[in-house]
Amino acid sequence: MNTQTFHRRLCQVSVFSALGAGLLAFAPALSAGPRQSGGPQTAGADAPTFSKDIAPIFQKKCQVCHQPGSIAPMSLLTYADARPWARSVKDRVVSRKMPPWPIDKTVGIQEFTNDLSLSDHDVDTIARWVDAGAPQGNPADMPPPVKWPDFINSWRYQDRFGRPPDLIVESPAYNVVANGMDQFPPMQTKVKGLTSERWIRAIEIKPANPESRYVFHHANPSLKQDGKSSPLIASAVGTEGQIFPDDAGKLIKPDSTVNFGMHFWPIAKDVKAVMVVGLWFYPEGQRPQFETQGQVQFRADMSTGAATPSKHSREIARRGDLLIPPNGTAMYQGTYVLDRPARIHDLRGHMHVRGKYQIVEAIYPDGRREIINKLNWDHGWHTTFVYEPNVRPLLPKGTVLITTSMFDNTPHKGNPDPDQWVVAGSRTVDEMSHIWIGMTFFEKEEDFKKLVAERERLHKSEPKVTSPASPASRH
Ligand code: HEC
Repeated sequence: MNTQTFHRRLCQVSVFSALGAGLLAFAPALSAGPRQSGGPQTAGADAPTFSKDIAPIFQKKCQVCHQPGSIAPMSLLTYADARPWARSVKDRVVSRKMPPWPIDKTVGIQEFTNDLSLSDHDVDTIARWVDAGAPQGNPADMPPPVKWPDFINSWRYQDRFGRPPDLIVESPAYNVVANGMDQFPPMQTKVKGLTSERWIRAIEIKPANPESRYVFHHANPSLKQDGKSSPLIASAVGTEGQIFPDDAGKLIKPDSTVNFGMHFWPIAKDVKAVMVVGLWFYPEGQRPQFETQGQVQFRADMSTGAATPSKHSREIARRGDLLIPPNGTAMYQGTYVLDRPARIHDLRGHMHVRGKYQIVEAIYPDGRREIINKLNWDHGWHTTFVYEPNVRPLLPKGTVLITTSMFDNTPHKGNPDPDQWVVAGSRTVDEMSHIWIGMTFFEKEEDFKKLVAERERLHKSEPKVTSPASPASRH
């Protein structure tokens, strides 16, 4: 696929949200510690208690969302907060619906920097705690409460970088009228205050004030420069950022424009909504080793399949050809041949209510075929899965990426009408089959070879650093 093909894809309007990339940026550095070694435990004196066993798990894996002012309906900060929810907590945790981490754990890479999921041991501890009557235990065993940042007034990456953003871009105000309709206003701001080109290290977007927060649904800010548009990040309520790999960045030029890509959801009264994007840069004059494309759009319903797009590529391209029969299922696949070596740093799916799962697979130039990940689609969550640095897939030139989307239009919870034919479209009742892949392309083969060699050295010295399923481990 050539650059132009990518730009064409990048230009497409996107209405997506992401979850995940930002969450762990401010997760507390806690060690829940191995409290019990998993030996048989029965209810009674040995039963897990909230203070000693459960609070540390909640702090690490739940409270970011389950606290006043965050996105979940109830708080899990204290015993008094959590106790009434004990039964529901067990249900959600045992069924793996909470914490939200919709990925197939039996196949593909499993090392993520923002992994929200619970270990089997934690699930078991929570289940045993509830079965024992959800005892509080000794309050003296409680871990100190986590100091959560003020989600509205502070920037999440501020601690991480030791400073507020280097550049803040504020949107024009938009009046979100109280008419009950989704609103997608075209909000744009010309970037001011940049005197030279800079390389972006991290990006965060958030509502500028509490009022704006009430109507914020999600945002897909993009950057317009040199006549082209490319995505910055995608965000949804609760998560608002992206930190690029530390050897990669995205270039921003003084004459660029930020398009906020907003989706607002009105409340009972009109709200003047304002959004802000914060950018952290690499030091002035420092160019990161690689330029990342950020999240590139791949689709299962649109594909040229062409290694070297010819003037006819556009004509043969499939585009939006989804057709899902009533009370039936359908699977679509897209193929993309990489015309340059590439590295993947994150992955995010997107479907609507008939979406069941999406798979990203690679066929390497030597013929090996491997599943990189299988995302279990859950329309409630738009998670970005961010790979640990040592397992980021490294894909040689000529690799075929296959994206698969499976749709289920049989009667199920969440399907508004199984008797409909469903086609591609942006309304929730239509379907989509996008997969956003965080990519860095290498213009120089030597750069890629160097990364592959480093990876090989690493795996020789620390053989357990990736799962055997990781394609990264095989290069
Ligand atoms: C990324 C944010 C997030 C994280 C992390 C998270 N939750 Fe949730 N949780 C939500 C949201 C939002 C809802 C409401 C929507 C829903 O029910 O799915 C919810 C709903 C729930 C419910 C259902 C409440 C009811 O109405 O019965 C339970 C129980 C729950 N969460 C428990 C947990 C536990 C326990 C953890 C940690 C082990 C956790 N959650 C982690 C966001 C989160």
